Amino acid sequence: MYICVCKGIKELDVRTLGREGITCPKLLASTLGIDDKNSCCGRCIKNVSNFVEIAFDEHSRSKFSVKA
Ligand code: FES
Repeated sequence: MYICVCKGIKELDVRTLGREGITCPKLLASTLGIDDKNSCCGRCIKNVSNFVEIAFDEHSRSKFSVKA
């Protein structure tokens, strides 16, 4: 599912970053490029907390998952 039309970012992309430990708003924004005023509408940077929530959720899952 796309969560950013301007950059073509999918929820899975944010989850992947979360698994890698990228969960802070500033780092997520710069890594995903949603802080670029020239190529973004500005909607996602205003709602970056949603990205953080997704990334943090995935980070927590990966941290506590048991590997077989
Ligand atoms: S929809 Fe994400 S920056 Fe425009």
